[in-house]
Amino acid sequence: MHLDPDQLSVRDLYQWMIHTILPRPIAWISTLDRSGRTNLAPFSFFMGVCAKPPTLMFCPVNDRFGKPKDTLLNVETTGEFVVNLVPTRLCESMNLTAASLPHGESEFDRFNIAPQPSSVVAPPRVLGSPVSFECRLDRIVRISEGPAGGNVVFGRIVALHVDDAVLGENGFPDVTRLDLVARAGGDLYLHRGETLRMQRPD
Ligand SMILES: Cc1cc2nc3c(=O)[nH]c(=O)nc-3n(C[C@H](O)[C@H](O)[C@H](O)COP(=O)(O)O)c2cc1C
Repeated sequence: MHLDPDQLSVRDLYQWMIHTILPRPIAWISTLDRSGRTNLAPFSFFMGVCAKPPTLMFCPVNDRFGKPKDTLLNVETTGEFVVNLVPTRLCESMNLTAASLPHGESEFDRFNIAPQPSSVVAPPRVLGSPVSFECRLDRIVRISEGPAGGNVVFGRIVALHVDDAVLGENGFPDVTRLDLVARAGGDLYLHRGETLRMQRPD
């Protein structure tokens, strides 16, 4: 099958991308608005970028009216955010926070998700997340404008929290102890998959 992007609607292109670019890690992102109210939402167009300086990125698209999502607005306003990773036991809470609440209404409060203070930035972390990256805004790259328009947010990691309980024998997090949920296409998620070890060639 061959697909020509120019012949597909944005909706279909999105479906093809989320059914092929996978599994995707989920960044559960906490921010504050200009009044200090908390916001929390998941983003699976998310990846690490480099370690020098430690940088990650995520992609909040504009909503169907062409407006920026609250997370993007808050990051632009405050220059700070926290990426929390999502273990299986928190996946249903994570899913709830994808709801579009009115600007300023906190998903932490609405869905009874417990925050805990960050150490460097103002937005709180999610209690129970095994890994949280506290970030300061590096830059935002605008890919396109209007409905579904793309934005790439790059963040500098200024603090990293890792639950000691997920550490493996080599001192780094063990993938099975982390028990992270990954997103697939549609409503599907992957969790507790089998691991495969392969040595890289020199
Ligand atoms: C698992 C998951 C992954 C998501 N990934 C993205 C994403 O990468 N980009 C995006 O714009 N929206 C994504 N969404 C939808 C947003 O979470 C949703 O639009 C949310 O309401 C945005 O919240 P905010 O307005 O508080 O920022 C995702 C939703 C779920 C459940």
